[in-house]
Parts: sequence; structure tokens; C-alpha cells
Amino acid sequence: MKRILLIVGGGIAAYKACELVRLCRKAGIGLKVVLTEGGSHFVTPMTLAALSENQVYTTLWDLKDEAEMGHIQLSREADLVVVAPATADLLAKMAAGLADDLATTLLLATDKPVLAAPAMNVRMWEHAATRRNVAQLRADGVTVLEPDEGPMACGEYGPGRLPEPEAILAAIQQALSIVRPELVEGPSSSSDFGQEKSGASTSAARTDGLAGKHILVTAGPTHEPIDPVRYIANRSSGRQGYAIAGALAALGARVTLVSGPVTLPTPPGVTRIDVETAQDMANAVAAALPADAAVMVAAVGDWRAETAPQKLKKGDAPPSLLLSENPDILALLARSPHRPALVVGFAAETEAVIEHATAKRARKGADWIVANDVSGDVMGGPANAVHLVTADGVESWERLPKDEVARRLAARIADALTTPSKG
Ligand code: CTP
Repeated sequence: MKRILLIVGGGIAAYKACELVRLCRKAGIGLKVVLTEGGSHFVTPMTLAALSENQVYTTLWDLKDEAEMGHIQLSREADLVVVAPATADLLAKMAAGLADDLATTLLLATDKPVLAAPAMNVRMWEHAATRRNVAQLRADGVTVLEPDEGPMACGEYGPGRLPEPEAILAAIQQALSIVRPELVEGPSSSSDFGQEKSGASTSAARTDGLAGKHILVTAGPTHEPIDPVRYIANRSSGRQGYAIAGALAALGARVTLVSGPVTLPTPPGVTRIDVETAQDMANAVAAALPADAAVMVAAVGDWRAETAPQKLKKGDAPPSLLLSENPDILALLARSPHRPALVVGFAAETEAVIEHATAKRARKGADWIVANDVSGDVMGGPANAVHLVTADGVESWERLPKDEVARRLAARIADALTTPSKG
């Protein structure tokens, strides 16, 4: 049985946590509940204990036997930590790494994925401080759901309502890689890594669905030096690629992440190789083979400059840069004798997204292309609306946080690598 640790924060939406607990139990998910001081003003430990069929924890000091049931253990015996409702205060503490009560101590001590369902007044949700905290948490790998929009208990209207318990349960099931019964379909008729029929269902991937598989991921930008102090780069933050590497590792894969210069922490369980230029990246990819699958998310610089040995000085006229083309790592890999069974490329486009991506898939010899429109705030931003282009056609996913895109793609990869008809 999958188990979650549910942290119930203080807010009027705490009453919905009772319904969430009931739905989780009905779905066969085991729960332990931690109720914050604030949360206890809205729901009682007794209600949550009855619904969860388990003891409810409220303070750091009611963990009777520190050796057996200390806060470290409580934070680690679950498969997933869920914070619902996640108040502005709780999100701020999580983002800052504060640990001044049982809930925040558990959140800091856990080594498990964390999913937060925010609920707060619309102004609080839109406040720059909360935006900053949410962005920080997402960058740290926490899944922060978007709150619902609508009339609020405080009389205002807008985003900030706790997502419906059904929606939180769906996100929990997705994070636990549990396939919802209504989404399970018969075997796909497609072959050779073709498109499956259902986009949202992801797959029957288990948390060990990629055990024994080696997957290569490239991520981030490349830096192409001009002289010892200057370089050509692009706006890639590496977040989508890092999220994919983390999601693949979470499914049990051995992941080698070849990364351009970024400021992100290495996801748990991932082996990271840092590179700077496209040529370094091509060499690191070649050295990491063989692999069962490769996901090329890096925004590789298409050109490199002839590098001046000394810093270029201001002269009468600006210097001209002599550019030459970089190796196309994806195309080389797709045509190499050591080609992984599944090669996935990304396509960053600013117009005619699907047409360009479809052409790119054929030109580069990739099995799948994940196409995204980068004309908005995608590069460096927290969300991504992608189209999955396969041999069978195009599947458009709704705009999702980058870690949701990652989980969905990782589940599809697990499905493709472990289902013989798709291999
Ligand atoms: N890619 C690569 N090596 C390169 C350029 C791109 O491996 N030298 C990979 C990227 O990691 C991505 C895919 O190719 O998976 C498409 O990258 P994109 O920048 O969209 O395509 P380009 O080949 O650069 O085409 P264009 O810039 O003309 O759209």
C-alpha cells in the first residue's frame, strides 16, 4: 500500500482535508496526518484520526519514542508528503527552510517528494513574496499545485481556493504513479514508440518501472566562449531537463545528466556531468553510452565562435565573430551505432510549433519530439505547454508545471521501455 504523510495547515480550507483523507482511504492510500497549531483551530485531531484510521500528530513533543518514531522517521516512512492546505505562512517557511514546529521540521527532514496544495486569500497568493516562495519551492523540486479560482470565504474573488479534494487526490495518485481505474485502457495498438491513446493517463509505470534502465538526459544551455571572459549563451534555465532527470530517477532509472552551466541542485539519485560547450556536451554524451533511452532537453548552442586567446579590447570598430556550426548531438546520437532504443528530442520553437517539430523529428531521426512554444516565458519560467510528436501523430498537453510535464514524460518513457509492443 502506498502511504502519504498529510500535513494539514491552518486555514478555513482545512475542513476540506477531511474529505481528502476520506478519498485517499477509499483509494487504498494509507495516511498519517500531522495537524499544525493553526489547522487545529479548524479541524480536530479526533476527526482526522477517525477518518485516517491512524494516530494524528500535532506537536514535536508528542512523538513518544524518539528512537522508534522520531520526526525523521515519520517524515521518511511515507512515499509522499502532502501539504493541504498549504497556507502562505507554511509555503514561506518551507521556502526558507524554517523548522519551528512539527510540520516544518518534518518538511525539512524528509527525503521524499513533497506536494503542496495552496489555499489563501487571492491578494496573498498574488503577493510578490508568495510568488517568490512558490517559484523557489518549485525550483527545489516541490510540486506546488495551482489553487482554484472562485469566490473565497473572505468575500473576494480570484485564485487562492484550495483545489478540490478530488483534484488533490489525482495529483497524489500521479505523484505515486498510481493509475486511476477510469484512466486504465487496454493495450495500445501502436508500435515502435508510437503515440498512446490517452494523454492524461500517463502509464502503468511503477516507482520501480525503470529499474535496471540507464537513461541519458541533457539539460541547460551551453556557453560558447568568445574570449577568456565572454561567451554566447541562451535563456535555458535547465529546469525542465532537471525535472525530467529527477522524475526518471524517481521511477528507478540510473540517470546520467549531462548539464550545461545552470544554478540548480542535482536531483536525488542522478549522476551529473557538468559541461560548458556543445562540443564538451557531445563528448560527455558519447562517453555515457550505452543507454536504453536518451532525452535531449539541452538548449545546445547551434554555433561556436572562434575563441580569441586574450580578452578582446575595444578598438575602432566592433570585432566581428566568426561562427561555425556545432555538432548536432541529438542527430548524431540518433544515427550512431550505439543508438539508445528510445531517443527523445525537444524542439524549442517560436512559431509554427507543430510543423517545425514534426519536421525536426524526421530530420534528426528522433522517436519522439517534445515541442514547446518558447515565445512566451517558458525559458526560465515554471510552466510549459508541450506537444508530444511521435510516429503516430501529435498529442497536445495542457499547460503544466515543468515537474508535471517531467513526471508525465517519465511515465511514458517507462511505459515505452517496459512494454514489449512499444519496444
Ligand atoms: N540539439 C542537439 N545538438 C544541437 C542542437 C540541438 O542535441 N547542436 C537537440 C536539442 O537538445 C533538442 C533538439 O536538438 O533536443 C532540438 O533543438 P532546437 O534548438 O529546437 O533545434 P535546432 O536543431 O537548434 O533547430 P533550430 O534552431 O533551427 O530550430
